[in-house]
Amino acid sequence: MLAELALWLATPAGRMTRKLGLVTESVSLWARGNRQRKAWAEHHACCRAIVAGVVDELPQRRTAVVLGSGMLRDVSVGQLAARFERVLLVDAVHLPTVRLRMRFHRNVTLLTRDLSGIMDWLGGESDRRTDPLADLAAAPAIDLVVSANLLSQLAWPVEDWLEDHATEAKRLPADLPARCIAWHLDDLRRFPGHVVLLSDVEMIEHDRAGNVTDRLDLMRGVPLPPADERWDWPVAPFGEAARDRENIHRVQAWRDFR
Ligand SMILES: C[S@@+](CC[C@H](N)C(=O)[O-])C[C@H]1O[C@@H](n2cnc3c(N)ncnc32)[C@H](O)[C@@H]1O
Repeated sequence: MLAELALWLATPAGRMTRKLGLVTESVSLWARGNRQRKAWAEHHACCRAIVAGVVDELPQRRTAVVLGSGMLRDVSVGQLAARFERVLLVDAVHLPTVRLRMRFHRNVTLLTRDLSGIMDWLGGESDRRTDPLADLAAAPAIDLVVSANLLSQLAWPVEDWLEDHATEAKRLPADLPARCIAWHLDDLRRFPGHVVLLSDVEMIEHDRAGNVTDRLDLMRGVPLPPADERWDWPVAPFGEAARDRENIHRVQAWRDFR
């Protein structure tokens, strides 16, 4: 608990990033990932294997971009740094633990960025979405983009914010959470290089008898093309979020999303 508080306090982040709960979420994800190392290992291994397989087949390895890099559990930054000239890690939150690790990689740069593009809009500082990837999508040397379990995370902070700010919500589209998902997919399609998309797409809650007690479409109705691979990620095994409930996330992976 103390380590989590210290990490929360030591993490630099913008005002809206904190208000939307992204620092709190990153810290709790860090702690949960440590507790659930074993349960999450297969999910991380599947993600890493897909990226490694794609990297092997690329004709050129100049710049790699990881969107939603977070704690870098689902991609091997060591491998990317060794095989690419330059690696850009993009996230709204880079925990101090990650910042420290990245000092050992000379060709890795951390970019702090809102990949939903709507934080200023929510905060009343803009009247529309700002393009979060305009510069990177136009950069010619980007040979690989990995969207690393970010997509589903773009919706819930906006949903919570709209619920908590009923007056401000009236000037915003009601389907903003779904739009954030769709916009990220459009953003990925603009890159001329290879694009790997990894995302959980559905949450399923079970009781101990195996009955489904809840289901949530993490894509908020946004359609996706058929995936190359799928697996289950036990995000909250029994005892993690509730004693008699477990949450499994269905994950899908696209080797070349475009
Ligand atoms: C499930 S985590 C991804 C995990 C990460 N790839 C890893 O292996 O640790 C989702 C990540 O998306 C980031 N994220 C969520 N909303 C974001 C936003 N609007 N802009 C940029 N990053 C965002 C979070 O900070 C978090 O690091």
